[in-house]
Amino acid sequence: MSEPILEVQNISKFFGSVIALKDVSMFVRPGEVTCLLGDNGAGKSTLIKVLSGVHKPDEGVYRYQGKEVNFSSPRDALDLGIATVYQDLAMIPLMSIWRNFFLGSEPTVGWGPFRRFDIEFAKRTTREELGKMGIDIRDPDQPVGTLSGGERQSVAIARAVYFGAKVLILDEPTAALGVKQAGVVLRYIVQAKQRGIGVIFITHNPHHAYPVGDHFVILRRGQIYGDFTKDEIPLEQLVQMMAGGADLEVLSHELEKAAQGGGPGSDELEKVAEGFDAEARGETD
Ligand SMILES: Nc1ncnc2c1ncn2[C@@H]1O[C@H](COP(=O)(O)OP(=O)(O)OP(=O)(O)O)[C@@H](O)[C@H]1O
Ligand SMILES: [Mg+2]
Repeated sequence: MSEPILEVQNISKFFGSVIALKDVSMFVRPGEVTCLLGDNGAGKSTLIKVLSGVHKPDEGVYRYQGKEVNFSSPRDALDLGIATVYQDLAMIPLMSIWRNFFLGSEPTVGWGPFRRFDIEFAKRTTREELGKMGIDIRDPDQPVGTLSGGERQSVAIARAVYFGAKVLILDEPTAALGVKQAGVVLRYIVQAKQRGIGVIFITHNPHHAYPVGDHFVILRRGQIYGDFTKDEIPLEQLVQMMAGGADLEVLSHELEKAAQGGGPGSDELEKVAEGFDAEARGETD
């Protein structure tokens, strides 16, 4: 087992009287996918904002490649190879794929007053890099806005990898995607891992996390609720811990009661209740 590339110990973060994180410890190894799971408000985004240099932790230690770090901006983290792909991707829809790929890091040719954006290089590199991730774009001149959600996520991942990410943080990259598109993104997550990158994959969905994850960290109300390697936890148990199996059961019973009242839509309610019940028992896929 390799040493962690990134590690936090007893990190806390307070917003006034809100305790967003309390005594959170976790680590990320290179070439592994660490899944960060948790319900709404659990503290996932706050934790990755600490990791990516957006927030300073109020307590605790942050180590990167074995050394303690104190980031004062996301630029500091990025310079060390910690790249974050946010859900609302920082891309410009009307600009071409290659312009977006090099946004903020435009390659140039020539000197002094003759210096200009090296368009040929940018187009070629974009095509090559996307190809390495298994993405075949028809035309690098195509505006990013015409790509599907999954393709756009993939471009953002390929770009982070190209610019030397050692740790890649993905905040809910599959949340808004259908099954097939989510599959595409999951494949790139595996490819990034195979290139030796330490991936942090944030998701609500244990069915997306489980096939690609090596290590699962579950947050609940700002604290670590569980930390498992894949061989320590079967999918069913992960689903239960994640969904708060007990909460889902309560919800299912309530819906069932509402359905028994009869009236319009009660059949549908009954079905939804059954679905929640099955999920609470970890039976869905
Ligand atoms: N800037 C802030 N100021 C005050 N409270 C905040 C701030 N950011 C987060 N919080 C609070 O911290 C808690 C954790 O929020 P966070 O966004 O980290 O949750 P999350 O796990 O990412 O949830 P979601 O799945 O909904 O994105 C919440 O109670 C939230 O209201
Ligand atoms: Mg969040």
